[in-house]
Amino acid sequence: MTATIRLLGAAEARAAISGLCEVLSDCVNGGASVGFMQPYTNVDAEPYWRGVADAVASGATLLVAAEIEGRIVGTVQVGAAQMPNQPHRGDLKKLLVHRAARGKGLARVLMNAAEREAAARGMTLLVLDTATGSDAEAIYPRLGWERVGVIPDYALWPEGGLCATTLFYKRVA
Ligand SMILES: CC(C)(COP(=O)(O)OP(=O)(O)OC[C@H]1O[C@@H](n2cnc3c(N)ncnc32)[C@H](O)[C@@H]1OP(=O)(O)O)[C@@H](O)C(=O)NCCC(=O)NCCS
Repeated sequence: MTATIRLLGAAEARAAISGLCEVLSDCVNGGASVGFMQPYTNVDAEPYWRGVADAVASGATLLVAAEIEGRIVGTVQVGAAQMPNQPHRGDLKKLLVHRAARGKGLARVLMNAAEREAAARGMTLLVLDTATGSDAEAIYPRLGWERVGVIPDYALWPEGGLCATTLFYKRVA
């Protein structure tokens, strides 16, 4: 099954909110440390995605989605660094693939698209952090990201308990 990868504009992002909520809640309930605590429902996710759509509208965020047969199954964002001395830097955020769609290469194509779109807008350096010991931590080096180091006790796992975070960067010029 072929996935369609799309950069969403603000109206498209708003239209996609229910599908994005489904992907985020599936990831959180599957144990991903991506900012939210269990239990986490699609309704809980709505304010977050409305904020993302607003950030897309203001130009602060690039939002990429993967769809299979018209249904959103994965997503990733690049937030533009806000300070005037970092016009070249972006924050890679919320790489999320629904559990039913994992292992098919969607993270790789989503990351490729996000990096390409960021570079097209003049960004040359992307940074991210991810829960130490997560599946994602193992994936980023395979996608060309450099591991910087680990910060202990950075956040909570969604079911509770402190987790460390691992920092990565990638030059995309
Ligand atoms: C991390 C995540 C996005 C991966 O999505 P995916 O679509 O299954 O990943 P892909 O199939 O594109 O795999 C990408 C690469 O990582 C490898 N990979 C996939 N799962 C892996 C795992 N658990 N351990 C090690 N490598 C893995 C794949 O083999 C592939 O490498 P290759 O192309 O060189 O063969 C998905 O597991 C997820 O959504 N997790 C929960 C949310 C999360 O933690 N996001 C990170 C936030 S920073």
